[in-house]
Amino acid sequence: TWTSVNIVEEQVEKIRAEVGDARVISALSGGVDSAVSTALVQRAVGDRLTAVFVDHGLLREGEAEQVERDYVEATGVDLKVVDARERFLGHLDGVSDPETKRKIIGREFIRVFEEAEREVLATPGPPVKFLVQGTLYPDVVESGGGEGAANIKSHHNVGGLPEDLEFSLVEPLRTLFKDEVREVGRQLGIPEAIVGRHPFPGPGLAIRIVGAVDAERLAILRRADAIVREETTAAGLDGDIWQFPVVLLADVRSVGVQGDGRTYGHPIVLRPVSSEDAMTADWSRLPYELLERISTRITNEVEDVNRVVLDITSKPPGTIEWE
Ligand code: XMP
Repeated sequence: TWTSVNIVEEQVEKIRAEVGDARVISALSGGVDSAVSTALVQRAVGDRLTAVFVDHGLLREGEAEQVERDYVEATGVDLKVVDARERFLGHLDGVSDPETKRKIIGREFIRVFEEAEREVLATPGPPVKFLVQGTLYPDVVESGGGEGAANIKSHHNVGGLPEDLEFSLVEPLRTLFKDEVREVGRQLGIPEAIVGRHPFPGPGLAIRIVGAVDAERLAILRRADAIVREETTAAGLDGDIWQFPVVLLADVRSVGVQGDGRTYGHPIVLRPVSSEDAMTADWSRLPYELLERISTRITNEVEDVNRVVLDITSKPPGTIEWE
């Protein structure tokens, strides 16, 4: 019978047998799948696993710390953090086209990860032969199943891995669905903030700023997004919402009035959706009281934002993200 305890024991055995005395490398994204698969491998092989976390500066408020501090404390994973924030900002400078943003972020992610990988390979120890991948059962089915079908849609993976895979893949979540992965993660003691996280795109906040990305715009969006999450959680509605993108229309300004002055600020778009698999989605009918609190707080607390609007488009015709 299925229990998360059984799964952990079974997978730990299996990983040990598979990996033998070799070393293993892993990429943490901040998301559930990479967090749980990495923690399972750590359970099995301890410090023969090195996890790499590339901080591209496009995560939401507190998320990098959750990985670097809370996750490491809870799991004991040997983590190598690469602070690539300046690098990503530099490459994104002046870029507003959505697909160009995605390409730049994907490309730089691979470059930075490969640099980190070379550093790990250069440290003394047994040969590094394996790479952890958080492939879930639905991904296996979608990519045609079969052992070793390491066929990951680039869309789902800024983690998108180097083409010339020099490693064998360790995929301890291949038989599991998302809910089961979360259960296993809880069993492993991974913080709820990571295990319960809504889906979040690899390119992160960069594709939630309509317009070019810079540090100031990221700070505005991060603050607004944090308020949305605080209020949604306080209202007890996280479980009813599939995903709640918050978008900054950085290239749009509108007139407002605050205090006794006229303002000329940016709108923030709220995009809460319900969905089963992100292929189709419906806009969430959130309580007016919650929307009101979010709107009041954002316009009061976030500088340069003087308007909050609600996206009431289903998918199709709209996508979940704005870019
Ligand atoms: P859309 O906007 O296409 O999003 O309705 C569907 C789901 O995919 C996520 N998404 C991405 N995930 N890299 C990712 O890893 C991306 O470039 C990307 N674009 C969209 C989105 O958050 C939603 O869950």
